[in-house]
Amino acid sequence: MAEERKMVNIYIMGKHYKVPYGLTIMKAMEYAGYRFVRGCGCRGGFCGACGTVYRKPGDFRLKVGLACQTMVEDNMYLTQIPFYPANKATYNLEELTPTLSTILQYYPEVTRCLGCNQCTRICPQELKVMDYIAAAQRGDIEKVAHLSFDCIMCGLCASRCPAEIVHYNVAILARRLYGRHIAPPAKHLAKRVEEIKAGKFDEEIQKLMKMNKEELQKLYNARDIEP
Ligand code: SF4
Ligand code: SF4
Ligand code: FES
Repeated sequence: MAEERKMVNIYIMGKHYKVPYGLTIMKAMEYAGYRFVRGCGCRGGFCGACGTVYRKPGDFRLKVGLACQTMVEDNMYLTQIPFYPANKATYNLEELTPTLSTILQYYPEVTRCLGCNQCTRICPQELKVMDYIAAAQRGDIEKVAHLSFDCIMCGLCASRCPAEIVHYNVAILARRLYGRHIAPPAKHLAKRVEEIKAGKFDEEIQKLMKMNKEELQKLYNARDIEP
């Protein structure tokens, strides 16, 4: 007789389901019959589309996780965070200076931070979100860029902020400023651009363009992969 699979109880938007143990929240929701048309992207923990909040009975804390990465547990009460509009500035990066005044021009609300640390506590990437907002308040663009480097823009921090700061948009402005105006230009990139312009790869590109899909697949699968 086939071994019976252990099942767990979960509640999705208040409705009870029994789902197999060992699934991610995303797979468990699909098992329960939900089809994702939103709130799902890469399924690999990178795109930030699947922020989910949940509670366990007897625990006052509101917990969060990425649905594609977090395993279901017995008695999880789950809700997905729907898309909601965020304050997002538009700018021409070339015209900006990497200074405090640029941050304050586009996101003056960073000065309203109350220091409650909710943003850091909720971040599924375990980033020091409050610290990078503090760095933004000081105009320390480099620090914001480094502290926020692994942000996947899931939006969970902004959903909790009493000061209505959209942390991830502040952070991406800082990373853009850092990349364009502070980080030293990569010498190897400049060299490669020169080589491309000089036609060093023309012959190889022509060869690739004549290949059919199977030949390209074979070449791709046999490529050198960095360890
Ligand atoms: S900083 Fe905010 S948007 Fe970025 S990963 Fe953390 S919670 Fe998500
Ligand atoms: S949630 Fe908002 S107010 Fe609280 S520490 Fe983070 S940025 Fe500041
Ligand atoms: S689906 Fe992309 S992070 Fe979960």
